[in-house]
Amino acid sequence: MIANTKTAAIRVGITGVGSCVPDEIVTNDDIAERAQTSDEWIVERTGIRQRHVAGPGVAASDLASPAAERALARAGITSADVDLVLVATITPDMPFPATASVVAERLGAGQVAAYDLQAGCTGFVYALTQAYATIVAGLARRVLVVGVDLLTKYLNWEDRGTCILFGDGAGAAVVEEVSDGGFLSFELGNDGSHVEDLYVPAGGTRQPATAGSVAALDHTMRMNGRQVFKFATRVMVISAQRVLASAGFEPADIDLYVPHQANKRIIDHAVRELGIPEEKVVVNVDRFGNTSAASIPICLDEMLRDGTVAPGARVLMTGVGTGITWGSALIEWPTDGNNGGSV
Ligand code: COA
Repeated sequence: MIANTKTAAIRVGITGVGSCVPDEIVTNDDIAERAQTSDEWIVERTGIRQRHVAGPGVAASDLASPAAERALARAGITSADVDLVLVATITPDMPFPATASVVAERLGAGQVAAYDLQAGCTGFVYALTQAYATIVAGLARRVLVVGVDLLTKYLNWEDRGTCILFGDGAGAAVVEEVSDGGFLSFELGNDGSHVEDLYVPAGGTRQPATAGSVAALDHTMRMNGRQVFKFATRVMVISAQRVLASAGFEPADIDLYVPHQANKRIIDHAVRELGIPEEKVVVNVDRFGNTSAASIPICLDEMLRDGTVAPGARVLMTGVGTGITWGSALIEWPTDGNNGGSV
């Protein structure tokens, strides 16, 4: 899917962003012995130094709800002003109902539409696209988009190929009509031939939970790291090039590049290929690890709070994740809302 927004009747953008991560920090040294790895290896191969980890009993909605409240406050609205709550997650509170239903209730949003969207680490970009289309079609005036994942709940802490990479978190954005700027183009894709390169075998309808599936650790993540690395580096670049071309821009026209925070080496590769100068690239994977659907909105929240992004800035976001899915959104930051520091 690819489209630019040139012919749309209204401009739609992000007017508020918020995030929430658990307090507990787990460093590389904390996991090194159990996973037979080292801080040095993890930093060199991934750029990750630490991650935030949710404790027992903490679920997706527990991080999603505060992130959403902050986004609403920064947009200067309340949950009563929202028509749709859209939660991108692959780690819901429970198989059903949707975590979006739980979040909408926690926010006191009333009987608004609410559903989850599953696109792995690309979930936030997919959800922004859905929100945009829903608003332009006149189905909603304001959409609350949340990206939340607690992938540490699915880790085998003895599997050094996966447990070093992930952290927990949530990020949220209010999407609505804006008076200037807004989304310029979107590109989304998927290659389902890679399903088993990054997946959790059990717990779904293919292999429901049994004592055997628990004993076999089939409820934990399986990943072909090398394969994912190769595919991710390629599609991060292709997706960015496509979304830019669709809007009539070159990489040099971008003010800020917000790549999915999977691995510093994947980001470095994309930046080199695209020819985007390092000072325009947002990186926080060292402090959060890969927070999946939360990674891009956590970056946006930090950028707004420290003043990195200002109205008029052209921001390119690109995600890649299990599926394998990928997606990019290009936005010109609007002047509306976005009360960065004061909430
Ligand atoms: N600590 C120490 N050694 C490790 C290790 C770790 N955490 N993980 C793997 N190794 C070892 C392997 O056993 C292998 O040893 P061998 O040569 O003796 O067999 C060696 O390091 C190389 O393994 P390889 O899997 O090729 O490493 P890599 O350089 O590809 O790095 C990942 C592994 C997981 C860091 C890397 O593949 C990666 O980041 N992939 C992308 C994953 C990702 O981002 N997923 C989410 C996408 S949204």
